[in-house]
Amino acid sequence: MRTEVAIIGGGPAGLILGQLLTRAGIDNVVIEKHTREHVLGRIRAGILEWETVELLKRAGVGERMARHGIPHDGIRIAHGDQIFRIDFAELVHKRVMVWGQTEITRDLYEARDREGMPTVHEAADVTLHGIDGNAPFVTWRKDGREHRLDCDWIAGCDGFHGVSRRTIPESIRREFQRAYPFGWLGILSPTPPAAEELIYAASDRGFALCSMRRPDLSRHYIQVPLADSVDDWPDELFWEELKRRLPAEVARDLVTGPSIEKSIAPLRSFVSEPMRHGRLCLAGDAAHIVPPTGAKGLNLAASDVHYLAEALIAAHHGRTDEIDRYSERALARVWKAERFSWWMTMLLHSFPDETPFDRRIREADLDYLAASRAARTALAENYVGLPF
Ligand code: APR
Ligand code: PHB
Repeated sequence: MRTEVAIIGGGPAGLILGQLLTRAGIDNVVIEKHTREHVLGRIRAGILEWETVELLKRAGVGERMARHGIPHDGIRIAHGDQIFRIDFAELVHKRVMVWGQTEITRDLYEARDREGMPTVHEAADVTLHGIDGNAPFVTWRKDGREHRLDCDWIAGCDGFHGVSRRTIPESIRREFQRAYPFGWLGILSPTPPAAEELIYAASDRGFALCSMRRPDLSRHYIQVPLADSVDDWPDELFWEELKRRLPAEVARDLVTGPSIEKSIAPLRSFVSEPMRHGRLCLAGDAAHIVPPTGAKGLNLAASDVHYLAEALIAAHHGRTDEIDRYSERALARVWKAERFSWWMTMLLHSFPDETPFDRRIREADLDYLAASRAARTALAENYVGLPF
């Protein structure tokens, strides 16, 4: 089999890239390790920067998002019983969109089916070959047979645990990372959201976030020790702890109910450089991870894929200068989002090893944010997303 671009990984990064290439008349094949049901079963953050919204429209999956997505003009930040608003519309004249990643992924698969582009699911032992030369190819096993796909370029969109990044020789790869000493316990519940906008809460008992998917579906998180498991957190305990971390007036009105999903995710900052080696370009979680505090994971995958699609389209027309610039261009934006996500994480969480000095600095940062329009503008500018 032969194609122009082999895309490893059928998550949001691989699927958006596939759509942009297909629309530019470039042949591509998506090779995914899991079943479609498995991919669609994952629940991930659902806050879209406006540039991501525009990109999804260009990728042909804007219709349901326009009908059911909920535009938000701000977020709330709570600090103990104090609560203040970051007004995106007023401060930076932009907004974000609440629209679940699961929905986006579903629309992307359907668009891919409609356009008749091939997707291989349940591909085992995916291996990249010849990325240093001019004739790269990908092999995998499926249904007891070996398969081979020859291509011009390989897009490594296979997430943090994928194989693509590790195909770049260790002598060339540089990895930067920071692990945080806590995780986020998240629940999805068929209850109305705590407020019209997201509430990020910094309390003495740790961080909490009230988010949402729809007017009748809420997503809430609390910071928990890394050693905890979901079994330690029956629903009643979760709600009780969440309420204790929210301002009294918000806790009082919070509607609780049974959870329909519950999971714990560790928090990590990670970047692998460079994002291109020979015929391989990385995009999305394959190249970098952010802690979820700034909701940047999907948005960063979107900006990578925007740059990468431009580069591959130029290469299709015989110009490889954009491919040569891809890593540098993508990383410049990646590091700014890494900084912002790290800063939001440091600002809002309780650290087990926090010294009294660290704590006062954190409180001063929160007070400064509450009081200073300049500080709120900086947060708003980053939250709604820096330009692609
Ligand atoms: N071969 C093929 N596919 C693989 C392999 C492999 N060896 N390893 C992993 N995959 C698949 C995964 O099953 C997954 O479907 O690659 C896909 C990667 O998808 P994500 O992990 O969602 O990563 P990405 O597409 O970069 O998403 C970026 O969206 O889902 C979120 O947390 C993610 O916020 C991040 C953003
Ligand atoms: C979510 O809705 O899942 C969500 C929202 C904002 C975040 C992280 C997760 O910062």
